[in-house]
Amino acid sequence: MASSTLFESVALRDRYRRVYSAEPRIFRAPGRVNIIGEHTDYNDGFVMPAAIALYTRVAVHHRAMGCITAQSENLGQRAFIDFDEPNPAPRHDWSDYVRGVALAIRSSGRSLEGANLLIQGNVPIGSGLSSSASLEVATALALLGVSGLELSRTEIARLCQSAENNFVGAKTGIMDQFTSCHGREGHALFLDCRSLEYHYIPIPRNAGLLVCNTMVRHSLASGEYNLRRQQCSEGVRLLSTVLPEISSLRDVSRSALDEHRELLDETIYRRCLHVVNENNRVTKAGIALLDGALKAAGELMNASHESLRGDYEVSCPELDLMVNLARDCPGVFGARMTGGGFGGCIVCLIDKAKANQIARAVTDGYKAHTGIVCETYFCPTADGADEELI
Ligand code: GLA
Repeated sequence: MASSTLFESVALRDRYRRVYSAEPRIFRAPGRVNIIGEHTDYNDGFVMPAAIALYTRVAVHHRAMGCITAQSENLGQRAFIDFDEPNPAPRHDWSDYVRGVALAIRSSGRSLEGANLLIQGNVPIGSGLSSSASLEVATALALLGVSGLELSRTEIARLCQSAENNFVGAKTGIMDQFTSCHGREGHALFLDCRSLEYHYIPIPRNAGLLVCNTMVRHSLASGEYNLRRQQCSEGVRLLSTVLPEISSLRDVSRSALDEHRELLDETIYRRCLHVVNENNRVTKAGIALLDGALKAAGELMNASHESLRGDYEVSCPELDLMVNLARDCPGVFGARMTGGGFGGCIVCLIDKAKANQIARAVTDGYKAHTGIVCETYFCPTADGADEELI
């Protein structure tokens, strides 16, 4: 464990002792950055994210009554979750992730012990780096741990996804929770979201991932996300009238899509086009990364952004500006928006030796154009979620 990480855990343990007068166990789960494969996970497709060394930590100790107290240090708020509450409804705040995970575990037929949680995190909230998935996964590990329950990492990822889909109400795919559970330091995770088969792809030693935050978040994000999902389903429904063997866009080739284009209106066609092309790009990018072909991988990332902007329409002016600023910098192989879109972050595949110059050029250029001071994170890739043993 890196010493700064150890220090954060010790500090959290000490605060827990003061708040709850008990000795906690500490679990942590990382955020993720998606290198390529955007809006493909809920279409049974391919993604290639990496877990990053930004974490949500949950300190936990058993509590006598069958309920959970959760305190968020970041927000200075406390929530109470009563296992006996009939028909619990979402509160539309951070505590829904904790409540949703507890409910998902209990509705899988497992019985949970009561718990006191102290939660702290440094994954920037709402910026496309999966702060919510890292909160869900760290909470799941803590609640399972205190209840003496053991589940596989893949089962945990699925439970957390179901919490988000069924309780929080965001119809997200599996990518974020899976990456938070299965990430590996120094590697990207090539994941088939249908079979959940995955491969670790080493990130070449001379390369790095620079993440730059536009600091904007457009309010339409969640509604538009669910709308994109519906448009993909509608594409599958229409195409399956002539292609009965397909069950998702994963099964549709570019030539089949173009052959049956007249079945789809222009918007649905462009949504499908993005997904079909993006799946092909992820496979190619995986091979390029394995071959150390950084320029080729970067060009695929650039093409991914253009497709998300033009065909899938989930970018925004700030993301486009930042991507262009990054691409102008020597040492950037490729740059694209990352995550759901409508704000949040871009990810750049870069020559590691030039990280500081690139971060400065993007920060200065972005401030000159928008007046906004952005954040940049040159964050190392990380291992998936686990208990922190101090
Ligand atoms: C969000 C969702 C993911 C995925 C991305 C887009 O991060 O949580 O499941 O769909 O958007 O690729």
